[in-house]
Amino acid sequence: MPQTIIERGLADHVDTAVALGRRLRTLLQAVDKPATPQAPSDSAMTDERQAMAALVHRVATSTGLELGQYQEATLRRQFERVMRQHGATSLVQLAAEAERTPELLQALQQSVTIGVTEWLRNPSAFAALRVAWRDHIRARAAAGAATLRLWSVGCSSGEEVYTLAMLTDELLGELGVSLDWMVLGTDVNAAALEQARSGLFDEDSASALPAAWRERYFSRIGHTLRLQQELRRRCIFTRHDVLQDLPFLRMDLVACRNVLIYLKGSAKDEVLRRLHHALLPDGLLMLGRSEALSARTRTLFTAVSTQEHLWRKRPDAHAPPLAMRARRPAAKATPVHPAPPQLRPVDHLEADLRERLLQHLLQRHAPPTVLLDRDGHPLHVVGSMDGLMRWPAGATVALTMPNLVDAAWQRDVQLAMHRLLDGSDAWRR
Ligand SMILES: C[S@@+](CC[C@H](N)C(=O)[O-])C[C@H]1O[C@@H](n2cnc3c(N)ncnc32)[C@H](O)[C@@H]1O
Repeated sequence: MPQTIIERGLADHVDTAVALGRRLRTLLQAVDKPATPQAPSDSAMTDERQAMAALVHRVATSTGLELGQYQEATLRRQFERVMRQHGATSLVQLAAEAERTPELLQALQQSVTIGVTEWLRNPSAFAALRVAWRDHIRARAAAGAATLRLWSVGCSSGEEVYTLAMLTDELLGELGVSLDWMVLGTDVNAAALEQARSGLFDEDSASALPAAWRERYFSRIGHTLRLQQELRRRCIFTRHDVLQDLPFLRMDLVACRNVLIYLKGSAKDEVLRRLHHALLPDGLLMLGRSEALSARTRTLFTAVSTQEHLWRKRPDAHAPPLAMRARRPAAKATPVHPAPPQLRPVDHLEADLRERLLQHLLQRHAPPTVLLDRDGHPLHVVGSMDGLMRWPAGATVALTMPNLVDAAWQRDVQLAMHRLLDGSDAWRR
């Protein structure tokens, strides 16, 4: 258990018992100090705000995570936690320290993306899902579908992914239908994804699972539970930033729980539009206990259970074209600068209209095109890829372009990517 906490970066500080005692004393002394008699001056508050903005900007440029889309109160709380851990007394000091110690930026990113999760989180939500998911599977099988695709957005260390996998496996058995299926788990936290892929979990953490599931889907090694190989084979984990990366498509079920709570209203709406786009016409959307649709996104879904935050895509509702932002490349440490000047609202509007016009023209007139990163992960698709791209079946594979095309084209695609990367002439088939 302690090892899991350390590996997932959940511990504020790791040390020997004696050193921890000393550290606690120092922290308690700091708490006992009388509060500053005066409220912070206007200039101190401005400095703190600027330091926050500078830190947000620096985290974005160094780790690629656009923290500007996250709620300010959450960011401040987490930044102040990191500030205390590093013995800084203000965000201004922390921003200066980040310039000398770039690892601090990693710690700030981690502090915002550390995800508390659990098995069968909110059991009543899964009870409602079981009913709707069973009907969905039955309808898909009756319609002759060959596959089921599930996506857990912000999956943290994988408990939600495997819970969905166990539920699906059980329902398929109950219904006596055999469909090929897979669950995709995505997150921005690499350590959490690593933990998820391992399929190893502390026995105590899984006590909320029905005993029958624990017996059937796990083997025991001491106090560690190991997910059964057949179930793990169906669960793929990959890094994906729901704010910046192309959404995965043709999903039967998307669970996006306890991710939207961190985001600003406009970013929440944008994510919900993307998830609407990701779902099949009658696909299900599962949100977290304290996550609701806004007036702007309410029209995209119909309620399956408002109490359990379970929704179904309205196929007749059209979300505006996706406003994909170019991913900011993670850079090596650069000096801390104040945040760049904000665009005026009118500039935003114009940029948005320009973007929509371009999207419209590309969708209508460009040949099917995929933008890839250097590792071959699709970042953006223009036009329809129906019949060209496919969901990879089988064991855990990277979601790179060669794995996403028909086996007959894999070699050609690999070759084309290789030539593009090594600077050879543009490649044509
Ligand atoms: C509180 S956890 C939720 C875990 C799980 N969904 C649940 O409800 O138990 C939130 C997760 O969202 C992830 N997250 C935060 N921002 C994200 C983003 N932009 N894209 C993808 N995942 C993100 C965090 O890394 C974290 O693992």
